[in-house]
Amino acid sequence: MATVTEIAKGVYWVGVVDWDLRHFHGHELSTHRGSSYNAYLIVDEKVALVDTVWTPFAEQLVENIRQVVDPARIDYVVTNHAEVDHAGSLPAVMRVAPRAELLVSPRGMETVPGHHHQPWKLRAVKTGDTLPLGEGKLAFVEAPMLHWPDSMFTYYTARNLLLPNDAFGQHYATAHRFNDQVDERALHEEALKYYANILTPFSKLVQKKIEEVLALGLPVDMIAPSHGVIWRKDPLQIVRKYQEWAAQKPEPQAVVIYDTMWDATRKMAEAVGRGLLEGGVPYRMFHMSVSDRNDVLTEIFRSRAVVIGSPTLNNGVLPTITPILEDLRGLKFQNKVGAAFGSYGWSGESTKAIEEHLGRCKIPVVAKSVLAKWQPDAAALAACEEQGRTVAKAVRET
Ligand code: FEO
Repeated sequence: MATVTEIAKGVYWVGVVDWDLRHFHGHELSTHRGSSYNAYLIVDEKVALVDTVWTPFAEQLVENIRQVVDPARIDYVVTNHAEVDHAGSLPAVMRVAPRAELLVSPRGMETVPGHHHQPWKLRAVKTGDTLPLGEGKLAFVEAPMLHWPDSMFTYYTARNLLLPNDAFGQHYATAHRFNDQVDERALHEEALKYYANILTPFSKLVQKKIEEVLALGLPVDMIAPSHGVIWRKDPLQIVRKYQEWAAQKPEPQAVVIYDTMWDATRKMAEAVGRGLLEGGVPYRMFHMSVSDRNDVLTEIFRSRAVVIGSPTLNNGVLPTITPILEDLRGLKFQNKVGAAFGSYGWSGESTKAIEEHLGRCKIPVVAKSVLAKWQPDAAALAACEEQGRTVAKAVRET
């Protein structure tokens, strides 16, 4: 059990660390390093709890609060976002804090009752609204679609503390609470994976929201998200990273993804890789039946090109390829180029299916597809190498 931590005078981290979490949102997102659900208790003249924790950890949250104050003293519970990993413990909290008023964004007036169906006292707060606590006050900024319609940031003026809920978070379980205490490389990997897999479709909104918040000129000593560690050392570094990621300017590198039944498409993937290297573009290759989809998506996010290979099965692609194609459509990655290849036995529709899907993803196909019947011969492998060189040229020139 992680220790309750006073992160700033009168502000306590009362969350939980979930070391065992390996999949999030059902099985939608892999979380190799676990996660944490961060709740913050502000003890001023008034007492406010900002966010709760995932439902299975409700009792631990209540116990953590008790270590600081009698939960009955809580005047306000701020729910920045109603997803259960942050609001799932509301019933347990509201039972022990019966006086508390629940503050939500205007869209939270739908999502919180929609999840809980409880007769709680709810008040909507809009961007610019403030709530005096005593020495400081809470200020609110609506952040719709970062990443739900109800998402909201809360700011505590007395400690220059920004509590942006999911934004700037990482699925990263650690024994520490602050960014300057953990492995920097692991932290940035997790922050990037979080952005690439969750926030990319909302990149334009991310850019606008960051500009809006920076224009407020609020001093920020700490950014305390609802997952992972708190940005204390150079807190705005993660804001700069988000600006960079939201701009979606990928690196001049490629990702080759494929699946294979009897190695024919694998040999083609390797030939594409040789062509990419000859063209001066580094690449990473992923066999999708043994690769983690979210890690691969993170690599694609960082890369200018994605080349996709599949044998033909039942007039389409192998089922292991379909989920990542669907993610590419939904995540709306920008500034990519693509190409398709694959082996077949008698009908050979896989490359056409991949190219059509790339079209739906608005990823232009920049090299002729390569289809090889049965096992690729020298000519087919040479065509794959040529495809790699052509993709490399597009990467270097655009
Ligand atoms: Fe949108 Fe961390 O929940």
